Amino acid sequence: MTTTQPNRALSVLTGQALTPPPVWLMRQAGRYLPEYRELRAEKGSFLALCYDSDAACEITLQPIRRFGFDIAILFSDILIVPHAMGQDLTFTEGEGPRLDPPLKAADLEGLKPARHHYLPIWETVRKVRANLAPEKALFGFAGSPYTVATYMVAGEGSKDQADARLMAYADPARFQALIDRIATDTLHYLSGQIDAGADAVMLFDSWSGSLAPSEFERWVIAPTAWLVDQLRQQHPHTPIIGFPRGAGEKAPAYARETRVSAMAIDESTDLRFVVANTPDSLPLQGNVDPLALKAGGAPLERALDEVLDIMRGRPHILNLGHGIDRFTPIPHVEALLARLRS
Ligand code: CP3
Repeated sequence: MTTTQPNRALSVLTGQALTPPPVWLMRQAGRYLPEYRELRAEKGSFLALCYDSDAACEITLQPIRRFGFDIAILFSDILIVPHAMGQDLTFTEGEGPRLDPPLKAADLEGLKPARHHYLPIWETVRKVRANLAPEKALFGFAGSPYTVATYMVAGEGSKDQADARLMAYADPARFQALIDRIATDTLHYLSGQIDAGADAVMLFDSWSGSLAPSEFERWVIAPTAWLVDQLRQQHPHTPIIGFPRGAGEKAPAYARETRVSAMAIDESTDLRFVVANTPDSLPLQGNVDPLALKAGGAPLERALDEVLDIMRGRPHILNLGHGIDRFTPIPHVEALLARLRS
């Protein structure tokens, strides 16, 4: 006989506090797993994996099978949107992503959109949802307009996002046009993920922390608020998790003004401060330091216990503050889960 168990992640996202909290890890599907590295070697490239819905479905499910996480994160990348907007995208081992032509030297209008790129990703969502137990949640995701713009303008990752921040000051109309286009495409992409079966979606704003406060209002909060509003009109019951990485003291304003359903917190932001300055009903996700996980042992136990202690009684999804480091020993992940569940 089968009994249906509740979907714990969705319970938390609708405001319930659970002990222990549901758990997943950012970048849980990826290079620290031997089964991922094996499939990647076979398929040749990271991008080939993203556009192969059978492979991407398998990779999405690998960490669920191995660790029993409560949440599966779609295997894809935030740079699929610029690729579909017409920039050439390559990932070179050891170098990170390249987008061509960089928009600091080319016009958006010159790009030829390729929206068919979204189809295999939506197909992955359908396949994962069909193969995932009902008590597990599937999260879709996209990058937030500002973070995606930093890659599109520079044509690559950069330490301080200087090219995009400079364009935002020097030619705000041009930067606004770019942000608006990314937001429109991201709405289409995320809406398709929800139609295909994603239970919630997460917006990664990995570089929002590099902006001055007034710039943060304009380039992070405003476009995110628009996106949240549009998505909610189309999908009123789908939770939207915002991740303003590095936002620090700007995090409460982000939550209030964007009206995200839940907020993910990075390890450099003071969780006590966020708890004290946001409504008790707002679910929070995070924020164990990925390097405490890599270190393992007592530092990991302390980091986990502290997060659990601060979040007691509050709707909480346990996660890292950023992606898992690729050289994290698998026994450390097992130790984290054993302590959480004990
Ligand atoms: O497991 C998961 O979390 C799901 C899949 C996922 C990936 N990227 C797969 C990936 C998710 C949610 C992302 C988000 C992403 N991608 C972000 C936002 C989150 C963050 O980490 O800040 C950003 C900024 C990117 C852009 C990106 N993709 C970069 C800069 C790189 C190269 C650096 C690196 O870590 O290799 C990637 C590549 C990438 N995305 C890999 C994976 C598994 C590694 C590819 C490989 O196998 O070589």
